[in-house]
Amino acid sequence: MSRHPNFHPSRRGAVPSIAEKLHQHAMEIEATGQDIISLQVGQPSTGAPLGSLEAVLAAGESSTLGYTGAAGNEDLRERIARQYDELYGVYVDPENVIISFGASGAMILAVLSCFDVGQRIGIPAPFYYGYHYALETLGVECVLFETSMENGFQPTIADIEAIEGGIDGLIVASPGNPTGSMLSPEELKNLALYCEKAGIRFISDEIYHGIVFDDETPQSTACAFSKEAIVVNSFSKYYSMAGWRLGWMVVPDYLREPITDLAHNLYLCPPTPAQVGALHAIDCREELDQHVVRYRRNRDLILARLPQLGFDRFTTPHGAFYLYCHVEHLSKDSVAFCMEMMDKAHVLVAPGSDFCPKAGKHFIRLSYAGSTESIEAAIDRIARWRS
Ligand SMILES: Cc1ncc(COP(=O)(O)O)c(C=O)c1O
Repeated sequence: MSRHPNFHPSRRGAVPSIAEKLHQHAMEIEATGQDIISLQVGQPSTGAPLGSLEAVLAAGESSTLGYTGAAGNEDLRERIARQYDELYGVYVDPENVIISFGASGAMILAVLSCFDVGQRIGIPAPFYYGYHYALETLGVECVLFETSMENGFQPTIADIEAIEGGIDGLIVASPGNPTGSMLSPEELKNLALYCEKAGIRFISDEIYHGIVFDDETPQSTACAFSKEAIVVNSFSKYYSMAGWRLGWMVVPDYLREPITDLAHNLYLCPPTPAQVGALHAIDCREELDQHVVRYRRNRDLILARLPQLGFDRFTTPHGAFYLYCHVEHLSKDSVAFCMEMMDKAHVLVAPGSDFCPKAGKHFIRLSYAGSTESIEAAIDRIARWRS
């Protein structure tokens, strides 16, 4: 019997991923017994801090680890709120902290609670690709606009004013993915206040906070500048807990209730064991800061060696663990370039096309979240290939 014509994927389910195709090719090469060094992944190469693991084990013995409230465990919300005071000197009401399934889940809640179908959200390119596709499946229109290398690939007010037809929301990320570039506190403040005045929902993705390298480019939080800003953050990066799927948001008063109701109806509550682990991770800064020391060492190594190999066009990353490199002088097509690097150097990097549909074909993204030895070995392989 032939299959009924209704049984096909929905239009919203058709999401392209170039990274996935490269990953498949890497697995084919590895199946032949050759190893690939991956500088593609966007996650820490370390696990959760020890204090989190111990706390979860202990909690499993003494409690059921059943559902929490939809907005999350009260102790964790209170601890996160207190951390805003410790890190930024900003008062945040614990009631305005909502625990979520990673920053990804926070963004879904932000979009569902703020925007109606068809409303327009500005996304400065290059951007973290997950947001683009995820948000379009929710029915909003993503208005992608290009930023420049001179502005560190961060948006300016002039960029926003130039968007034809205007926007109802704006997402910024500092430090950003794929660039690692940052907005200065002044720039973040100006953007947040501009959006507040213009009635544009300002969503600040602060997921790479904590992984910041220089004192002259300090991290700042949008909730220090605008009560209307929505801040999204996560335990995936600095806290080294990507697979625990936990994040949070700081929201304006009027969104507390709708977001809590949405969370309850969508998934009841964020994962309880992960919330226990996260609560303890916040007090493991000494251990976690050691990872940041390594990221910084890796960044410095890459910045010292790659330019000699022809990879010399980028904006210096001040945070996160990525380098977004212009390679048009080396290849007209970065996907083909990444394939060639994989075939000839056995190093996997991400092509820019996933992060920016237009200019991305001239860029690659390297992640230096791995061990320093693996970064060194990858650069040696690239050097042999380029010589
Ligand atoms: C800028 C940015 N935002 C959000 C996410 C999603 O992170 P998670 O859902 O793991 O918190 C990522 C993941 O790489 C990212 O790079």
